[in-house]
Amino acid sequence: MRIAIYPGSFDPITNGHLDILKRALTIFDKVIVLVAVNPNKKSHFSDEERVAMIKEAVSEYQNIEVEAYSGLTVEFAKKHNATHLIRGLRAVTDFEYEFQLSSANEFIDPSIDTVFLMSKVENSFISSSSIFAMSESGVDVSKLVPESVIKRLKK
Ligand code: COA
Repeated sequence: MRIAIYPGSFDPITNGHLDILKRALTIFDKVIVLVAVNPNKKSHFSDEERVAMIKEAVSEYQNIEVEAYSGLTVEFAKKHNATHLIRGLRAVTDFEYEFQLSSANEFIDPSIDTVFLMSKVENSFISSSSIFAMSESGVDVSKLVPESVIKRLKK
């Protein structure tokens, strides 16, 4: 069974992330979404909320699991017998950060490789913080995030 990890902050998950996740399922038998827990990084939503929003959004998929984790991503991958990490690339500006991240992961454990999927053009401008900012200012973001996120943004 080919298993991949899709790591991120997902604060909150967006339709851009969901598109990458669903496309990853055409390559791997199972994808585990890793919600990174970083006590030093302030997040809009709690770890539990970020996990719950993703679980609700992917509830119809048997081959997607969602977990929160506070350690190294490659360590988590190894523990779950995953061979690859998935990351989405939106624009050239993402490249530098992603290159550094994948190089660090490769340094830690060269047996885990990273697969990059290009974002669809219609999702290329979406980011978690822009969703939050737009929503706070009253902009309708229902075309950009799943219902599980809309529900919590309204609160
Ligand atoms: N569609 C929409 N938005 C996307 C996207 C896509 N396809 N891909 C990335 N983004 C956006 C997110 O919305 C988010 O926006 P924001 O900056 O406004 O919040 C931003 O890009 C990045 O978020 P995300 O995709 O959730 O990932 P991240 O960069 O926060 O995740 C980790 C980084 C968690 C993967 C990485 O830090 C990690 O692995 N941490 C664990 C510790 C570790 O192993 N470190 C590596 C070795 S030092």
